[in-house]
Amino acid sequence: MDKDTELIEAAESVRELAYAPYSNFRVGAAVRTKSGEIFTGCNIESAAYSGTVCAERVAIWKAISEGEKDFEGLAVVADTPELTPPCGVCRQIIWEFCGDVPVTLTNLQGDFETLQMKELLPRAFDAKFLK
Ligand code: THU
Repeated sequence: MDKDTELIEAAESVRELAYAPYSNFRVGAAVRTKSGEIFTGCNIESAAYSGTVCAERVAIWKAISEGEKDFEGLAVVADTPELTPPCGVCRQIIWEFCGDVPVTLTNLQGDFETLQMKELLPRAFDAKFLK
């Protein structure tokens, strides 16, 4: 798949809105639907810490709550020399709601790498085990 510049730019732009007064670690994410729409999310922290939500989940929850079900890919941006990957909880959620989509990791220097969700979360637990 070609580099999705529009998706990366959307993630970069929403990162500016991150609410991260405790970690000062700002993350932006953007998810593309199969119909071509983009939904964005930034991390939003809570003083009770455990209420914090990562950028990836904010983007996916926004899309799901607008009735979207089919996703094509996701981009994540943070200001780190080593590209920041989604945390474990987000990998689970991306897998469950987006499936084996390409996930592009980027930083503010323009480095990027695209990985499939199957590489990021091998042997995932999901709904098929609950049948
Ligand atoms: N964070 C994300 O939003 N996405 C990631 O992929 C890694 C971590 C956020 C959560 C928290 O607000 C801050 O980064 C530090 O962990």
